[in-house]
Amino acid sequence: MAGGRFITLEGGEGVGKSTQVRRLAVALRERGYDVVTTREPGGSPGAEEIRQVLITGGGERWSPVTEALLLFAARRDHLERTIWPALERGAWVISDRFADSTLAYQGHGHELNQDIIIRLYANVIGKFYPDLTLVLDLPVEAGLARVHARGAADRYEEMDIAFHRRLRQGFLDIAAHDPRRCVVIDASEPEEAVAAGILETVGRRLLAGGP
Ligand code: TMP
Repeated sequence: MAGGRFITLEGGEGVGKSTQVRRLAVALRERGYDVVTTREPGGSPGAEEIRQVLITGGGERWSPVTEALLLFAARRDHLERTIWPALERGAWVISDRFADSTLAYQGHGHELNQDIIIRLYANVIGKFYPDLTLVLDLPVEAGLARVHARGAADRYEEMDIAFHRRLRQGFLDIAAHDPRRCVVIDASEPEEAVAAGILETVGRRLLAGGP
């Protein structure tokens, strides 16, 4: 996968991932990189169909283990159809969520045995990992206030505050256990400052000459 890099943005609800994915893509394109932006669940036609099945219906529609299976089915298709081909041609791929979201939401949030998720990852994806994962961190109340302000509430966003606290801690634990891959970004700063911090991190971690 010469030249290409795989960057994921992770975090709870309302942390500003989608905005920061767009901003990072613009910044890297300005520097001459071929950039593909994508998201999970989704990112390929088949995975987008699975996304619809996952995010519609009530919160009890799927058990956590079924949800994890659907997420990994979508993820495998996303990798095969979108991520791996882009990396092979040398593009940089920036994904709004990836497998850390399954560990955080289904594992920490819904308290699914994390071993199931780790084994699914090993069997379905193998030894392929993001080059860099940016964990956008924000106090739960601030994230949920942003979600409500934009009038968005899908089935995951209806979970109670204790779920969101487990989720935040889950992402922080994931980052603490894998500091070579993960960097925690303070998402409570203004959008501009968060974008600058992300670009600086990408430069430091992935670009020899800085951003
Ligand atoms: P989004 O709000 O970032 O578009 O993601 C849709 C929802 O899917 C979000 O609430 C998080 C949830 N999700 C999981 O529960 N597990 C996962 O593995 C992924 C990728 C997303």
